[in-house]
Amino acid sequence: MAGVQGKHILLTGAAGGMGRILARRLHEEGARLALVDANADALAQVADALAGAVAVPGDLATYEGCAKVVAQAGQSLDGRIDMLINLAGLNSFAAFEDEAPARIEMLMHVNVLAPMWLTREVLPQMQARGQGHIVNVGSIFGSIGFAYFTSYSASKFALRGFSEALRRELADSGIKVSYIAPRAVRTPMNTDKVMRMGEATKMNMDDPETVVERILDAIRKERKDVYLGFPESLFVRINMLLPRLVDKALAAQNRIARKFAKSEE
Ligand SMILES: NC(=O)c1ccc[n+]([C@@H]2O[C@H](COP(=O)([O-])OP(=O)(O)OC[C@H]3O[C@@H](n4cnc5c(N)ncnc54)[C@H](OP(=O)(O)O)[C@@H]3O)[C@@H](O)[C@H]2O)c1
Repeated sequence: MAGVQGKHILLTGAAGGMGRILARRLHEEGARLALVDANADALAQVADALAGAVAVPGDLATYEGCAKVVAQAGQSLDGRIDMLINLAGLNSFAAFEDEAPARIEMLMHVNVLAPMWLTREVLPQMQARGQGHIVNVGSIFGSIGFAYFTSYSASKFALRGFSEALRRELADSGIKVSYIAPRAVRTPMNTDKVMRMGEATKMNMDDPETVVERILDAIRKERKDVYLGFPESLFVRINMLLPRLVDKALAAQNRIARKFAKSEE
């Protein structure tokens, strides 16, 4: 089992609900960290509490931003990045006809293109050493398209496809690719409206601490793909084989979700 002790890790979304916990746990386990987030003040707080961790504030929504972050992280990690954890992400809960075109674009940039661009930048030095690990944090919504999370679902489906193809492409390279898909988690990513909709539809929600331990476990075991939570992990399989059954199972829930998605508050 591969641990993270002594590993040089670039973690994105490190100031977020799960990111700050994952940063602390990786630090406890002896990783050397370059921590990335758009929220520079919150990121500085996270990094200051972890001796030796370096804050790399940056905007991942553009290729230039991603390339800059990798260059800075590489410098602070003595030119070696053993692991890239793509955790930064954006959510959107809206009826698709109400979704702002710029929001759709932003979601695709942060949730799909940023992990691809960052991977593209770290890969050559991993290939030169014949080892490395790319960890992409997706979502159950990347396997089950969820109404009113349509843009978000599309972005996580794309991230899952990227992870699968890249894993196959790198099969003989010594570089591992993991795709880890949590179900809903209690973090600031979910607005009050999403939380209320989640309660009304009895959506299962995990604590970020629990999910972070599962992410760490998947990293240590170099798992290829992991779907967190039951029955969600089972529904992922059912949706692949019998999607019409899932259409029917979700119909009542979707009607409730629509009311929240269309409400003004
Ligand atoms: N929470 C859930 O229910 C849930 C469920 C399944 C999967 N996930 C996935 O888990 C990951 C972590 O989610 P979380 O719940 O920890 O979310 P979170 O609390 O919202 O944290 C996400 C972090 O990413 C940062 N970020 C957003 N856009 C960025 C950009 N352009 N450049 C750099 N950083 C940026 C955010 O910074 P700002 O605050 O400045 O925007 C935030 O600190 C995401 O990929 C998410 O899709 C979450």
